[in-house]
Amino acid sequence: MRTVDLIEKKRNGGQLTQQEIEWLIKGYTNDQIPDYQMSAFMMAVYFQDMTDEEITAMTLAMAHSGEVIDLSSIDGIKVDKHSTGGVGDTTTLILAPLVASVGVPVAKMSGRGLGYTGGTLDKLEAIPGFKIEVPEAEFIRLVNENQVAVIGQSGNLAPADKKLYALRDVTATVSSIPLIASSIMSKKIAAGADAIVLDVTTGEGAFMKNPEDARRLAKTMVRIGKLAKRQTMAVISDMSQPLGEAIGNSLEVVEAIETLQGNGPADLIEMCYVLGSQMVVLANKADSLEEARQLLEEALQSGRAFEKFKTMIASQGGDVSYIEAPEKLLTAQYEIPVLAKESGVVTKLVANELGIAAMMLGAGRRTKDDAIDYAVGLKLHKKIGDHVEAGEALVTIYSNTSNVAEVTALIEQNIEIGATVVEPPLIHEMITE
Ligand code: URA
Ligand code: CA
Repeated sequence: MRTVDLIEKKRNGGQLTQQEIEWLIKGYTNDQIPDYQMSAFMMAVYFQDMTDEEITAMTLAMAHSGEVIDLSSIDGIKVDKHSTGGVGDTTTLILAPLVASVGVPVAKMSGRGLGYTGGTLDKLEAIPGFKIEVPEAEFIRLVNENQVAVIGQSGNLAPADKKLYALRDVTATVSSIPLIASSIMSKKIAAGADAIVLDVTTGEGAFMKNPEDARRLAKTMVRIGKLAKRQTMAVISDMSQPLGEAIGNSLEVVEAIETLQGNGPADLIEMCYVLGSQMVVLANKADSLEEARQLLEEALQSGRAFEKFKTMIASQGGDVSYIEAPEKLLTAQYEIPVLAKESGVVTKLVANELGIAAMMLGAGRRTKDDAIDYAVGLKLHKKIGDHVEAGEALVTIYSNTSNVAEVTALIEQNIEIGATVVEPPLIHEMITE
């Protein structure tokens, strides 16, 4: 086989065979195919698309390009949850202990944030002592003992995706549905879950800016999951405004603690119940979504979910005194309010731009080697549809520098106040096939 022939075939709109796709992925992972040829191939896919058969072949080839985790020594049906990315998306910190506290084993490998999107690992590392590097045997022991562990992805999980993602990032080929679907699903399959709940976000803060693209991505991933024999469903959720009220690592840990104590923002807790109910049903711990939701509400209200969170933090080396006194996590030197200039109703809170504002303060990375300041970020006091009076605080900036003029200007440009607004739905659609 010659790489140039495969590029030409895709460029002309042809369909590659499973053997051709496996050969390409293997050759690229082993450094036998150079970046410039793979770039040309990715651009051809970007314009010509792929069939379901091609996407499935590519996903499986990427999943098997490195280690495939075997979770069979953990009892029960292992359900993973994955979000396609958001701003202030604190759900994993809450969902992992919440569903574990009703008996669903959660063996979760999470990622870091990049650009305006946050990552669960960075948030967990805001808790002093918390270890995200855990050997596989220890990871399995923790899940068998506590029903929950959240760790960093092993270095050799889907190495083809690691190389391809870095290449796509610099060749303007990230936002292609077959490439995103294969990237996400290859990691989920390699991470060993039996069933997968996908949170496909849409809106300004998401890869998929409109619900039609999000639906296509969701349907594609659900089909791949089924072809790979993993029960898979997707929730299409709104990311036009940030989820919850906190954006930033320590701020989101505090938000997770408050939510697990029953005092969370309404949209965040609802999102956790919606995704969590799907996980509980897929794990066969309830016969219906209604029954699953009741189990989760009971676990949250009784304090069992919060106890599970403390167990999870302690067993991965985290200092639980910070969970019991979360104000100790909020060490930013300055807390600076952004005030409303007029009275009215909040009509816009542009998620990605607010994510960028948090990143500029140091809460996120511009490039993957940037250091993070866990203490900084934003706290939103108003969400879309809320009434505000002129002079009231819209947002508090948590900063370690007093010069926040640029960040303030960006926030002001991305919050609109008007007369009336139709509030965006939290959930657009559920996709089960
Ligand atoms: N997340 C991923 O893991 N891969 C993509 O391509 C996009 C989002
Ligand atoms: Ca949040």
